[in-house]
Amino acid sequence: MKEERFKTKNLYIVVLSLFFFFLCSTSDLLLPRSPLAILTGGRWDFLQPSIGISAMHMQLLHNNKVVIFDRTDYGPSNLLLPPSKCQNATVFDCSAHSLLYDVASNTFRPLTLRYDTWCSSGSLNASGSLIQTGGYGIGERAVRVFTPCEGAVLCDWVENRAYLSSRRWYSTNQILPDGRIIIVGGRRAFSYEFYPKSPGKSVFSLRFLAETRDRNEENNLYPFLHLLPDGNLFIFANRRSILFDFVKHRIVKQFPEMPGGDKRNYPSTGSSVLLPLFLTGENNRSVTAEVMVCGGAPPGAFLKAARTIPKIFVGASQTCGRLKVSDPNPKWVMEQMPSPRVMPDMLLLPNGNVLIINGAANGTAGWEDATNAVLNPILYLPDEIDPTRRFEILAPTLIPRMYHSASLLLSDGRVLVGGSNPHRNYNFTARPYPTELSLEAYLPRYLDPQYAHVRPSILTVELAGNMLYGKAFSITFVIPAFGIFEGRVSVRLVAPSFSTHSTAMNQRLLVLRVRRVAQLSVFAYKADVDGPTNSYVAPPGYYMMFVVHRGIPSEAVWIKV
Ligand SMILES: *[C@@H]1O[C@H](CO)[C@@H](O)[C@H](O)[C@H]1NC(C)=O
Ligand SMILES: *[C@@H]1O[C@H](CO)[C@@H](O)[C@H](O)[C@H]1NC(C)=O
Ligand SMILES: *[C@@H]1O[C@H](CO)[C@@H](O)[C@H](O)[C@H]1NC(C)=O
Ligand SMILES: *[C@@H]1O[C@H](CO)[C@@H](O)[C@H](O)[C@H]1NC(C)=O
Ligand SMILES: *[C@@H]1O[C@H](CO)[C@@H](O)[C@H](O)[C@H]1NC(C)=O
Repeated sequence: MKEERFKTKNLYIVVLSLFFFFLCSTSDLLLPRSPLAILTGGRWDFLQPSIGISAMHMQLLHNNKVVIFDRTDYGPSNLLLPPSKCQNATVFDCSAHSLLYDVASNTFRPLTLRYDTWCSSGSLNASGSLIQTGGYGIGERAVRVFTPCEGAVLCDWVENRAYLSSRRWYSTNQILPDGRIIIVGGRRAFSYEFYPKSPGKSVFSLRFLAETRDRNEENNLYPFLHLLPDGNLFIFANRRSILFDFVKHRIVKQFPEMPGGDKRNYPSTGSSVLLPLFLTGENNRSVTAEVMVCGGAPPGAFLKAARTIPKIFVGASQTCGRLKVSDPNPKWVMEQMPSPRVMPDMLLLPNGNVLIINGAANGTAGWEDATNAVLNPILYLPDEIDPTRRFEILAPTLIPRMYHSASLLLSDGRVLVGGSNPHRNYNFTARPYPTELSLEAYLPRYLDPQYAHVRPSILTVELAGNMLYGKAFSITFVIPAFGIFEGRVSVRLVAPSFSTHSTAMNQRLLVLRVRRVAQLSVFAYKADVDGPTNSYVAPPGYYMMFVVHRGIPSEAVWIKV
C-alpha cells in the first residue's frame, strides 16, 4: 500500500516535471526582450476609482498598510473625517487629506492631518514609524509621526508644528547608519538638519544647494540623496553632485557635472536610483555603488511652461546617466530612454530591474505646466550587456499620472500607483488632466501566471528576532514545480521608500550573500545567507526580503535589521 502510494507520487512528479520541462522550453523564463513585450509587458489592475484624496505622498509600512496624503490647503476632499476627528482638521471642513490604505483588503480609512503637508518629505525611522517633515505655511516646520498599529487600535498622526529648525518645503530625507534622519534642502533652505535633533547646533548650511539653484527656475529642489556603502551621502541637485560627509560636515568629493545640459530636479523633475548593492563579494569594503538619474527637462523649460502665454511645452529630457560613485574618478555614462520623460518615478524591482513609470513627455512639474502624459512605463535592465537591449516598453495604463502622482513597490511585488493633480485645487472637470483620486497597481511581467511554477514562496526565516549585521541566517522556501530549480537563488532586501515628486526617499536594494542552498524535500529548499554587512549598506529599519529564482521574485516577508 505504502509502496504503491510512493510509486503514484513518483509518477506524478515525473509527469509534472515533463510538463514543466515542456513549459520551460517554450516560455521565456529568463524574461528576454521580445517584440510582444510592447503589448504584454505586465498588466494593470484598477484598485479604487476614488480614495477621496489625490496620492501626492505615499509610504508603505511594515504591516503592509500605506500612508497616503495630499495637502491640507486644497479645500474639501472627497473623503470625510469621522465627526469626532473633525475639530482637528486644518480646514475645519471635516474632510480628510490623509488615509491609511490596507493592501490586503483594498480598503482605507481617513487619518487626521492639521499642518499643511504640501510638497513635504519623509522617512521611516529604525522602528518603522513614519517621520514626516516640513511642508507649506503652518506645516513648514512640522514633524508628523505615524506609528503603525495592529488590531482594533485606530492609530493616527501625532503632529508637532514647530520641531524643525528651518522651513522645509521640497526637501529630501534619508535615514542614516545611526538611525537618525537627515533632512536636506528645500525652497530657500540651503542647509540640512537632523531628526531627532542633537543638543547644540541644529542647522548646517550647505552652499552646494545655493550654487545649484537656477535663478527663476530653481531646478535643485527635492535633491536626490543616496546613502553610500562608504558611509557618505551622495547628493545630486540640478546637474551636479557631491559626496558628502554628514558627520564632519564637509564635501569629500565633487563629481563631474552630468553631461547634456538637461536639468534633473524640481521643477525640471527627473528621478534617481541607487542601483542594487551586491554584498556578495568576500570583501566588505569594496561594495560597488552606482547611481542612475533619468529624465528631466532642458534649461528654460519651466519658464516657457509657467510664465509664457500661451504656454510652451518643451520636449522633456530623453537621457539617463549612470555614475559609478564608488570609483575613484567616475564618469557619467549616458543612455537614451525610448521616449522623453519629465516627472518619472524610478523604482527598483525585486529582481534588480528599474521601473520608470508616470510622468509626461513635454513641459515640467508645476501647475498645468506639462502635457503629453506618458502612459507606458519602461523597464531598464541594468545588467544587460548590450546597451541597445536595456530598455523595454511596457503595457500602458489608461490614466495619466503627472504632477503630484506617486508610486511604490508593495511586498507582493506589485507597484502601487496613485495621484496626479496638476491643478491649484481639486479640479475634476479639467481636461485632459483632471485631478486623479484613483488608485491602481502595475503588475510587472514576473507576476504573470506563466511563471507561477518557478516563483519561490518563503516558508520560514530562521532568525531569532532582528537580523544582525554580519550574522548568518537561513531561509527556507518552496519552488512549486519539480525539476526546474536552477540550483541557486538570490536573497534581497528592499527598503520601503517614501514616494513623492518622482523621489523615492530611502529606496535601496541589497543583494545578500548566499553561501549554500540545500534541498530539504521534493519542493523545499534551504538557503544559508549572510545578513547585510554593516549599517552603511543597510541603515537600521524594516526591509522587505525577497527570494528571487530565475528572475522571478517571491512575495516578501518583512524583517527588521
Ligand atoms: C486634537 O489635537 C490635539 C493636539 O494635537 C490632541 O491632543 C487631541 O487629542 C486631538 N483631538 C482629537 C479628537 O483627535
Ligand atoms: C521611532 O519613532 C517612534 C515614534 O516617535 C518612537 O517611539 C521610536 O522610539 C522611534 N524609534 C527609534 C529607533 O528611534
Ligand atoms: C513636445 O515636444 C516635442 C519635442 O520638442 C515637440 O515636437 C512637440 O510639439 C511638443 N508637444 C506639445 C504638445 O507641445
Ligand atoms: C478646472 O479647470 C478648468 C480648465 O483648466 C477651469 O476652466 C476651471 O475653472 C477649473 N475649475 C476649478 C473649480 O478650479
Ligand atoms: C564582513 O563584516 C562582517 C561584520 O562586520 C564580519 O563578521 C565578516 O567577517 C566580514 N567579512 C570579511 C570577509 O571581511
